[in-house]
Amino acid sequence: MVKDREQNSNKEKKLLVSLIWNFSTELKLILMALLVIFTLATLLPFIPSSFSLSASDFRFCISRLSSVNTTTTTPTKLSPENNTTTELVLDRVLDNGVIKRTFTGYGSAAYNFVSMSAYRGGVNTFAVIGLSSKPLHVYSHPSYRCEWVPLDPTHDPVSTTGSKILTDWGYGRIYTTVVVNCTFPSTTTPVGGNLILHATTGDPSLNLTDSIPVLTEPPNSVDLTLYTSSTKKKQYDYLYCGSSLYGNLSPQRVREWIAYHARFFGERSHFVLHDAGGIHGDVFEVLRPWIELGRVTVHDIRGQERFDGYYHNQFMVVNDCLHRYRFAAKWMFFFDVDEFMYVPEKETISSVMESLEEYSQFTIEQMPMSSKICYSGDGPARTYRNWGFEKMAYRDVKKVPRRDRKYAVQPSNVFATGVHMSQNLQGKTYHKAEGKIRYFHYHGSISQRREPCRHLFNDSRVVFENNPYVLDTTIRDVGLAVKTFEMRTIGNRLLRTRQ
Ligand SMILES: *[C@@H]1O[C@H](CO)[C@@H](O)[C@H](O)[C@H]1NC(C)=O
Ligand SMILES: *[C@@H]1O[C@H](CO)[C@@H](O)[C@H](O)[C@H]1NC(C)=O
Ligand SMILES: *[C@@H]1O[C@H](CO)[C@@H](O)[C@H](O)[C@H]1NC(C)=O
Ligand SMILES: *[C@@H]1O[C@H](CO)[C@@H](O)[C@H](O)[C@H]1NC(C)=O
Ligand SMILES: *[C@@H]1O[C@H](CO)[C@@H](O)[C@H](O)[C@H]1NC(C)=O
Ligand SMILES: *[C@@H]1O[C@H](CO)[C@@H](O)[C@H](O)[C@H]1NC(C)=O
Repeated sequence: MVKDREQNSNKEKKLLVSLIWNFSTELKLILMALLVIFTLATLLPFIPSSFSLSASDFRFCISRLSSVNTTTTTPTKLSPENNTTTELVLDRVLDNGVIKRTFTGYGSAAYNFVSMSAYRGGVNTFAVIGLSSKPLHVYSHPSYRCEWVPLDPTHDPVSTTGSKILTDWGYGRIYTTVVVNCTFPSTTTPVGGNLILHATTGDPSLNLTDSIPVLTEPPNSVDLTLYTSSTKKKQYDYLYCGSSLYGNLSPQRVREWIAYHARFFGERSHFVLHDAGGIHGDVFEVLRPWIELGRVTVHDIRGQERFDGYYHNQFMVVNDCLHRYRFAAKWMFFFDVDEFMYVPEKETISSVMESLEEYSQFTIEQMPMSSKICYSGDGPARTYRNWGFEKMAYRDVKKVPRRDRKYAVQPSNVFATGVHMSQNLQGKTYHKAEGKIRYFHYHGSISQRREPCRHLFNDSRVVFENNPYVLDTTIRDVGLAVKTFEMRTIGNRLLRTRQ
């Protein structure tokens, strides 16, 4: 689907390229044919008579070669808008002897817009999520218009300026993530219709606008009270939006993470994971029981890989997740699968979240843990059989915990999201929640498929590679409860999971 749209929107640009390309292909073919003929002619005397070729065979060969799509090279009549790139302008010498050089652009190196999704976000507002050429956004002025074409012919199409939100904090590569907020004058977007995004590159010499159908909404498919009634109970209390998973992830670490958080967030929570190649067969097996219980949804986003953005386009993926589930959950969490949320023992996640209700967003402080050195208080044999978060119990006391924050939002107040926090929202953001909720980060533990413990220690304070650590059994202490929970919830299906 997405691919088709891209192809349509870029057909015009590609046409020019293909003219030139086909022409050179043809040249190559003719040269190749001549080469083959001369080679054969040279070799002919040495070929046994039973193998000989007649002149008519050659003629057949040549006629076939020259019939290869010569028609496409005949010049097409060019409209004034797109004639500029095909005209060859020669360098000329000016009166003062200076050589005037010219620069002529051909084709296009990065797409103007790569569409991922679009969602209705209210009675008259929509969000379109995709990628766009990063240099285009840095050095030019691309702009967007949104058009709503109702299916009911008695309603006229309406059009509005789309406001673009760039969420990547300067991290983009060839592509950057774009969220286009299309908000129409109220009551002009009845349910049922097509949303068209008109994306203009901002290049005055080309004046190219791609018109991209981004959303088709069937009639009567939306209950508008979803957006207006704030009292309506959401499908989930907590929804986890994961960023792109890639690399050779450890099935055992993923098993531990999902069991821990399924228990932590409780029955009314849901986990959305994005597979950019990281959910390989063995990882899928540890997710399968949770998928079957309806606790986990996996999205295969491997297709984005051919568009070079920041870390497997994680900004696009989390924004898709935000808008896709925006009205399905009261709170949304954004953190990684090597991070473990924690609330103090006397609290529960729901008591903590109730106390933070007045905020649209709060950030969560990191407790950096070592994923190399392990606590061997149970004796070495037992230590190796323990779960990762039971044995990796040494906390780095030198690292500044404030750096890498993660966050949670009430999504209906949020218009776009980043990786460390959202900067496009309404309402208050709270940065001092560390007494209520924190996360433990086992950096690098998830992407190695072997026993993580390099060194065992037994003391409450250790210095390893010139770095001080303290024993912190906060997460370790819930190990037994998590294992029991997993067994009770999905049985012993995952008992034989490997690192
Ligand atoms: C030549 O072009 C036509 C249509 O443009 C296409 O259907 C056909 O497959 C092409 N032939 C070759 C050999 O590329
Ligand atoms: C560019 O030229 C092609 C070939 O004639 C034409 O089909 C196309 O509509 C033109 N594009 C624009 C933007 O005018
Ligand atoms: C190409 O377009 C420009 C305006 O964009 C016009 O001035 C010029 O005459 C056109 N050339 C041809 C060959 O049509
Ligand atoms: C678009 O932005 C407006 C505020 O500027 C907001 O009210 C609306 O909810 C946003 N729409 C979406 C779909 O995010
Ligand atoms: C660019 O396109 C728009 C809409 O098609 C048109 O109104 C405008 O005059 C064009 N500008 C140039 C410089 O061709
Ligand atoms: C750690 O200490 C416990 C008792 O304090 C002891 O049983 C165990 O063998 C020790 N392990 C190591 C690796 O020193």
